[in-house]
Amino acid sequence: MFSQKTIILAPMAGISDRPFRRLCRSFDADLAVSEMVSAKGLVYGDHKSKFFLFPDESDKPHWVQLFGSEPEIIREAAQIALEAGADLIDINMGCPVRKVIKTGAGAALLREPERALKIIQALDRAPAIPYTIKVRCGWDSNSNVLEYFINLAATYNARALICHPRTAKMMFSGSANWEQLFSAAENAPLPIIGSGDISDPQTAIKYLGNPNLSGIMLGRGTFGRPWFFREIKKLLEKGESWSPDAKLKRETILKHGDLLRSEYGEKTGLLLYRKHLSWYIKGIHDAAKFRKEIFTLTSFTDIKKVVDNLFQ
Ligand SMILES: Cc1cc2nc3c(=O)[nH]c(=O)nc-3n(C[C@H](O)[C@H](O)[C@H](O)COP(=O)(O)O)c2cc1C
Repeated sequence: MFSQKTIILAPMAGISDRPFRRLCRSFDADLAVSEMVSAKGLVYGDHKSKFFLFPDESDKPHWVQLFGSEPEIIREAAQIALEAGADLIDINMGCPVRKVIKTGAGAALLREPERALKIIQALDRAPAIPYTIKVRCGWDSNSNVLEYFINLAATYNARALICHPRTAKMMFSGSANWEQLFSAAENAPLPIIGSGDISDPQTAIKYLGNPNLSGIMLGRGTFGRPWFFREIKKLLEKGESWSPDAKLKRETILKHGDLLRSEYGEKTGLLLYRKHLSWYIKGIHDAAKFRKEIFTLTSFTDIKKVVDNLFQ
């Protein structure tokens, strides 16, 4: 799966849902990871959590991210996800958000390597679960646990380790320390994927070219830009700088609306569409005026008219 240099849509709560994964895959993303799903929610039958599991034909292999803190619950949740169509499970060991870490999940596991070990051992127990882990490089500037987690993941047969090389304490401040990741990844016994601050094709290609990495993940750089993957691929494979013309942009943005509407229905779909639209229109002439207009409209039909006009 990671034999070639892979360009992946990052797991992002509230963003990397089925519609967005489908769009990014249509623009040449090699893989995509789902939004994080609560392991506990899955095991205790929470309907909302199960909703996140439905696979999409265009998004195979289906890679589902779980968060949790209890090894047996995580294993059981992974089995539920596999039965529902997942091909690969990612375990979130990097989310620094309070709501997640106060349950002992996400980046809290960087401070509790023994618990992380038990989670990984539970996944590797026969019949083994195909899994990856996603980490940050430590809890704070005094703790660098990256190499420890790389060895742990390799020892217990993880398919890859993904790292966003900031500390949990940094949240999104400062910048991702790719040099630290490159050196930790040197001679790593499993594929290492990097994530953080990639917002243009040149940077993506620079990081992809590092011999210690098997791939990169794109997160915020895809906001309002699901075609970012194709921009990178065109430059990488053909040396061409490419961006979608107005027609393709219009079609894509309209399609995004249609996908959201059929996924979530009129009301929730519209709320989510507005969020994406505010990214799509960023930088265009009169963006503020259009943003205002979009936020007053209450039907997909009206919003589609605005989009149609905007990208003529
Ligand atoms: C809105 C948002 C939601 C995120 N949700 C998740 C998540 O559910 N699981 C996860 O592992 N990382 C999550 N992340 C972190 C991203 O996967 C990624 O590692 C990070 O944003 C750095 O990449 P970027 O600079 O390209 O955005 C999220 C990031 C953002 C901005």
